[in-house]
Amino acid sequence: MKIYAPPCLLLCFAGYFSVLAVVLKTNNESPWTDEFDKIELSCLIESISTTNPRIEWKKITNDGPSYVYFDKRISGDLENRAMIREPATLVITNATRSDTAKYRCEVTAAEDQKSFDEIVIDLVVRVKPVVPKCSVPKSVPFGKSAELSCVEDEGFPKSQYQWFKSREEIPTDPKTSHTFFNSSYLLNAETGTLKFISVRKEDAGEYFCRAKNDAGYAECPPQMMEVYDIDVVGIVLGVLVVVVVLLSITAGICCAYKRGFFSSQKQTGNNYKVPAKGDGVDYVRTEDEVCRSS
Ligand SMILES: *[C@@H]1O[C@H](CO)[C@@H](O)[C@H](O)[C@H]1NC(C)=O
Ligand SMILES: *[C@@H]1O[C@H](CO)[C@@H](O)[C@H](O)[C@H]1NC(C)=O
Repeated sequence: MKIYAPPCLLLCFAGYFSVLAVVLKTNNESPWTDEFDKIELSCLIESISTTNPRIEWKKITNDGPSYVYFDKRISGDLENRAMIREPATLVITNATRSDTAKYRCEVTAAEDQKSFDEIVIDLVVRVKPVVPKCSVPKSVPFGKSAELSCVEDEGFPKSQYQWFKSREEIPTDPKTSHTFFNSSYLLNAETGTLKFISVRKEDAGEYFCRAKNDAGYAECPPQMMEVYDIDVVGIVLGVLVVVVVLLSITAGICCAYKRGFFSSQKQTGNNYKVPAKGDGVDYVRTEDEVCRSS
């Protein structure tokens, strides 16, 4: 069976209820503020018949809801930092980063037909980034890879990163810039890493990083990155020289031993060091073994 009601009747019906219903509204469902500033979470009563409604505010986090206004008192996290402005607006006088959460304004109006309404407000407290921790390698061999990193964990929303070389911003894509055209690197604005795939002489310079978000930015001091040539032939020769020198020293010591040079000195050695019992014997034996084995 269908019920046909003339439009007027529906309107009158709706009108009747709106008189006897509590209805909330807000000026701003998702307000934001910077840390240590004031912010209002507006909860306005659009209609109500009850004279003394019960007003409550809850903070909703992952751990569940907790009272911040109950029994006409500010409590919990917001104690001493907030107040209620008539009729039901919550004013936080000194917001902190931990205030970022959803808040629910609940009004119970016992004498109204529809006696309950609630409104959820999503508050974001922005936190300026602090000076990021930057790591720039001091010197990198030509043609090798190099990684520069920049990290900052205080900022909220999470910081994004920019790198600068000699005061000029390094673009995400080197091909978009005349200065960085020939550079080969990967720049990640989310993680703060600047990774050179193969450094060139021209990549040497002063680097610094900036962490930024909606609340502001902070930079680390510039640090120098140098690029040097690796002379492969030089290194091989250098290593060879060291090896030869070490071998000659070892051979020299052993031969000196075989000729009894050290053991004759051993007798006068008591003058500067009194060896523990058996110590001298062990010592000589060990050195003998080294010589024999080489
Ligand atoms: C706000 O709170 C912070 C610490 O929570 C405090 O250092 C600061 O002085 C407060 N500001 C005001 C205006 O009360
Ligand atoms: C990039 O390399 C090309 C070819 O080696 C050279 O002609 C050009 O001047 C270089 N550009 C920059 C900006 O260094």
